[in-house]
Amino acid sequence: MVGEPVNVNEFQELARQALPKMYYDFFSGGAEDQHTLKENVEAFRRITFRPRMLVDVSRIDFSTTVLGYNISAPIMIAPSGLHKLAHPEGEIATARAAAASNTIMVLSSVSSCTIEEVASSCNAIRFFQIYVCKNRDISAQLVQRAERNGYKAIVLTVDVPRPGRREADIKNKMIVPPLKNIEGLVSTEVDNDEGSILEGFSKEALDASLCWSCFTDTDFSIRCFSWCFYNVKVEDIGWLRSITNLPILIKGVLTREDAIKATEVGVAGIVVSNHGGRQLDYTPATITVLEEVVHAVGGKVPVFLDGGVRRGTDVFKALALGAQAVLIGRPVVYGLAAKGEYGVRKVIHMLKDELELTMALSGCPSMKDITRSHVRTEHEKI
Ligand code: FNR
Repeated sequence: MVGEPVNVNEFQELARQALPKMYYDFFSGGAEDQHTLKENVEAFRRITFRPRMLVDVSRIDFSTTVLGYNISAPIMIAPSGLHKLAHPEGEIATARAAAASNTIMVLSSVSSCTIEEVASSCNAIRFFQIYVCKNRDISAQLVQRAERNGYKAIVLTVDVPRPGRREADIKNKMIVPPLKNIEGLVSTEVDNDEGSILEGFSKEALDASLCWSCFTDTDFSIRCFSWCFYNVKVEDIGWLRSITNLPILIKGVLTREDAIKATEVGVAGIVVSNHGGRQLDYTPATITVLEEVVHAVGGKVPVFLDGGVRRGTDVFKALALGAQAVLIGRPVVYGLAAKGEYGVRKVIHMLKDELELTMALSGCPSMKDITRSHVRTEHEKI
């Protein structure tokens, strides 16, 4: 490629050239047939625009707020693990890019830099993502470390009771480097020939019995009640809320049924996500189920989306179908692998530029002007 990359796809190509095959496959790959991985991107392409003309678009404003935090654009950084495999500065470079771009970074619990290192490296608005471990004390420690270090929300990922089958990682015999946040707390040994990324951690540590009662668990509630005395109602406290005062977002919802449950247990927001096609293959593209979730939630909490966002037009489409903002996973890693902190900033900047142009060309000077009637999905008749 000659010159600077001009879009996310070109960053992906640079990342492919920059990384050892094993790491590129780890970041870019999906589960099994990779159907969902591809569909996440393709489904955006099947949505077209219904642009309006002769609207004053001389000024475009896409700044927004997420959980009350002002950000420059409705584009946040999704949690993804092991950034040092992409660049020596790892999540520190990513967080600095988030700060420079004035957006929110969600730090993965399986990051290569610690909660504390990332917190002290810059003043980005940070959320912290958790998987719930069998030993709940480990999860509690992580959440409390995040809270102490100024992370503003907990993002509970619910689509990994077990890791998806990522065949490229199996073939490459991908080995997990130490998971810095939980080093020494859980075993990450891989004990079979098919051992792949995070498999040891997942088998040993992830609590596959986790269910909705983690929000309403009576044992924990009663214990918590005795700690908190009369200040709070017992039924308002679930396990997770008993260990943190931070708002909790739930990530990995794909159906109206789960969206309704999530609102009932009192989450602060929902991320429609299929883990970037890395978990259950043949789940639908996230953009195709966004409206179902948005309707089920009925405005009670904000709904976010990730999966397949590669263009500013994709961001616009997600907003038109009801998302408050999107998160980007692989585009960030590709920027990081290609050009470190600068690359991540550039990726976010390009998406913002593309979003601005899309808003101008479709007659939407501000976020509130973007409506359902600005897009047409493949099932709608012309
Ligand atoms: C992820 N994702 C993820 N999600 C999560 O909750 N915790 C994690 O540790 C990770 N790790 C991770 C690693 C890598 C390499 C990828 C690509 C993804 C999923 C991520 O948050 C997000 O849902 C998807 O990446 C969104 O899809 P796109 O933007 O990559 O298409």
